[in-house]
Amino acid sequence: MGSQGYKLVVVANRLPVDQTVEEDGTTSWRRSPGGLVSALEPVMRAADGAWVGWSGAPDVEAEPFDAQGMRLVPVRLSGEEIADYYEGFSNDTLWPLSHDVISPPEFHRHWWDAYRRVNKRFAEAAAGQAAQGAVVWVHDYQMQLVPALLREMRPDLRIGYFHHIPFPPLEIFAQLPWRRQVVEGLLGADLVGFQRGGDASNFIRVVRRLTDLTTRGQVVTVPRNAPPTAPGEEPPPHGHGERHVRAAAFPISIDSARFDAMARTDEVRARAREIRHDLGDPSILLLGVDRLDYTKGIRHRIKAYGELLDDGRLKIPDAALVQVASPSRENVEAYQQLRDDVEALVGRINGEHGQIGAAAIYYMHHSYPPEEMAALYLAADVMLVTSLRDGMNLVAKEFVAACTDERGVLVLSEFTGAADELSGALLVNPHDIDGMKDTIARAAQMEPREMRTRMRRLRRRVLDDDVTKWSQTFLATLTAVPARKVDPTP
Ligand code: G6P
Repeated sequence: MGSQGYKLVVVANRLPVDQTVEEDGTTSWRRSPGGLVSALEPVMRAADGAWVGWSGAPDVEAEPFDAQGMRLVPVRLSGEEIADYYEGFSNDTLWPLSHDVISPPEFHRHWWDAYRRVNKRFAEAAAGQAAQGAVVWVHDYQMQLVPALLREMRPDLRIGYFHHIPFPPLEIFAQLPWRRQVVEGLLGADLVGFQRGGDASNFIRVVRRLTDLTTRGQVVTVPRNAPPTAPGEEPPPHGHGERHVRAAAFPISIDSARFDAMARTDEVRARAREIRHDLGDPSILLLGVDRLDYTKGIRHRIKAYGELLDDGRLKIPDAALVQVASPSRENVEAYQQLRDDVEALVGRINGEHGQIGAAAIYYMHHSYPPEEMAALYLAADVMLVTSLRDGMNLVAKEFVAACTDERGVLVLSEFTGAADELSGALLVNPHDIDGMKDTIARAAQMEPREMRTRMRRLRRRVLDDDVTKWSQTFLATLTAVPARKVDPTP
């Protein structure tokens, strides 16, 4: 950067690294989990930008530092703020509200107060890093007030916001006691991006119903309340007194080439063979990979698999299911309950169907490095993505990118953003257990020819539409905004 600040600033709840305490008491920074990090890392490295986010631990007061080709700017959160803003309002109010209220959202005023306070802190940190006229890209539901707060502090900035999770229908969003403030927060951006067209339409409908603003298609006209420009300063690029906010879909993707290349290395291919061998070389290896989250339909999937074993349509040791469930949001009660439920179900099915040396389900409550994931994807015959609701689901895309041998079937829930794009997958309604059982059985028996045809179609899509294209498209749309504006001269 120059001494004047960064031209591209990303604001997200998490930094792309977590601060962890080692056994000897020293601290170190490690790459943090989650789709957002893998999505943005290559973009940031290329742009030499700054990333404002939380370290993942309480009370970390660290100065900005350079790592992985970017400037990292840690924002401090106290233990109480983690409980109220992160576990509370973000993950026990907004998260369930945005995912079909699968778990009932909790509404607490002190959580909302913490959310407002923390969003302000993030906005201030971003304002302190951004160069004059810079682009600031705000990410996800934890940061929905940042666009408006930032615009108030820095009217010179171009502000984009991307919502990684579903935007709920008006009828559900309207439950939120602070619904209007959240919408006004988002309208601080110039461009509001969503995963699917349906999410953008939900947002526009919410704007129409909850505000007096005029909308035209996906464009909202907002009165400009920025301070008047000082003499000699560039006037704002919009017409006097108003600006436009555009909502649109930008389906996110992954660093596809990286997964493809990883799955072609001798190490990963050997590891894939070793995994199959260690599982007793089953003829059908099914795989599930998720954060342990109630939106992912893990119970529904395991139930369907268990019934296929009960019915004798799949048999142990012929078939095996590997379920990776990486630990997530472990202080939130709904996640603790889910863990108990999943683990009881896995225990029951293993008790009924497992044999010495051959379990029915290999359940792993860990996260793994990308190379190990690539080996698992390559080893699997059938990938099960059965979310009850999911903004996109990047695991589905990772599986496809790693299937370099074109052997593998993707069973994919209709309720994922990925289902809009990935024709070639076998779509399922995870609530329909019988339907899901039939589809899993069909996937397990699919002829290699059909498998190849489907996988080729999937791979073409995922390798073409990668995360670089996604971010370039979003940023190009955001930076093109002034060109479309009205001439500011009277
Ligand atoms: C989803 C969200 C991300 C979040 C990730 C991991 O993908 O859209 O914003 O970072 O889950 O969740 P966590 O709560 O651990 O950050």
